[in-house]
Amino acid sequence: RKGNFEHFMQKEIHEQPDSLTMTMRGRLIRGGEQKAKGILLGGLKDHLKTMRRSRRILFIGCGTSYNAALAARPVVEELSGIPVTMEIASDLLDRQGPIYREDTAIFVSQSGETADTLQALEYAKSNGALCVGITNTVGSAIARGTHCGIHLNAGCEIGVASTKAYTSQIAVIVMLALALGDDSLSTQQRPNAIMDNLYNLPSKVRDVLKLDKDMKELAALLMDEQSLLVFGRGYNYATALECALKVKEVSLMHAEGIVAGEMKHGPLALVDETLPIIVIATRDASLNKQQSVIQQLKARKGRLIVMCTEGDAEFMCPDRTCRIIEVPKVHDCLQPIINIVPLQLLAYHLTVFRGFNVDQPRNLAKSVTTQ
Ligand code: F6R
Repeated sequence: RKGNFEHFMQKEIHEQPDSLTMTMRGRLIRGGEQKAKGILLGGLKDHLKTMRRSRRILFIGCGTSYNAALAARPVVEELSGIPVTMEIASDLLDRQGPIYREDTAIFVSQSGETADTLQALEYAKSNGALCVGITNTVGSAIARGTHCGIHLNAGCEIGVASTKAYTSQIAVIVMLALALGDDSLSTQQRPNAIMDNLYNLPSKVRDVLKLDKDMKELAALLMDEQSLLVFGRGYNYATALECALKVKEVSLMHAEGIVAGEMKHGPLALVDETLPIIVIATRDASLNKQQSVIQQLKARKGRLIVMCTEGDAEFMCPDRTCRIIEVPKVHDCLQPIINIVPLQLLAYHLTVFRGFNVDQPRNLAKSVTTQ
């Protein structure tokens, strides 16, 4: 069942052009030239109006599923105009955080069985919120327990580390943002550009997968390190968290994802000439800020690996002291889907070099059904 691949995680990383195609099939509607384009999310059609009227959207999940919602949060805020809050399921339960009838609570879970997320769903339902499920498992407890939902259609994910479900979750939430935005999407430039970019996304993911060899080389360089920092911001704050989570859980190397705006508030103290640091600095509205982060890290002799947009290597690191990962450019809100792919490959190769179990990391289970 692994085909030409050695591990399920590797297979699932490489499957992403296809899993994304499946996720978008039948949902991204293209008319003829100059005709309306739109988003069709069948499972939500009776509830979109209520969602548009809600006072707040809450995303609730754990681990990678939480990170996926975090990656898509900016575009949901932008297109819906509704405030969005993020909740780690266990933390919401620990605090018994307030949830109201006017809220839409969106539960993101690959397995649809995660105990914390499921309990948070019961809690939100009992408080009267509209509950929406985004899962990859038809008939799962979360799919059954929510009022409505969207199925990921990413195909069965076997590796314990979630990879293709992550990119499909982001794609689904971007489509949800478009659907929430407006009925007359076709007349607006930005939603149109996002939809065009969604069409081309699988081929861009195919391109970025060509970095496999480079990521293997990078993994060989980093395999004996104790620790890795990953800086991201804006759309790619979640990419930093998700890269660190992947590296930690499969390669068993300590890694920390940091929102770059917090660098000066503590993490900068760690920087020296030995600790490897990945800085995600692909083109978007925060490029200038990330450039200045790179300069400040360089001033402290940081050992930098910079992820930038294709063609930007010279511009991002004129003195060529950084190692560069160049990735294809897509619409800013979809860039996290591209950017995570080489980092998934890095986590995979690190694990193989370090001799650990890729598909079943120590102490972890694919679906966490206990609290
Ligand atoms: C990381 C990973 C976990 C899960 C988390 C939630 O690769 O797989 O962090 O994302 O346990 O699981 P689901 O999405 O099934 O609710």
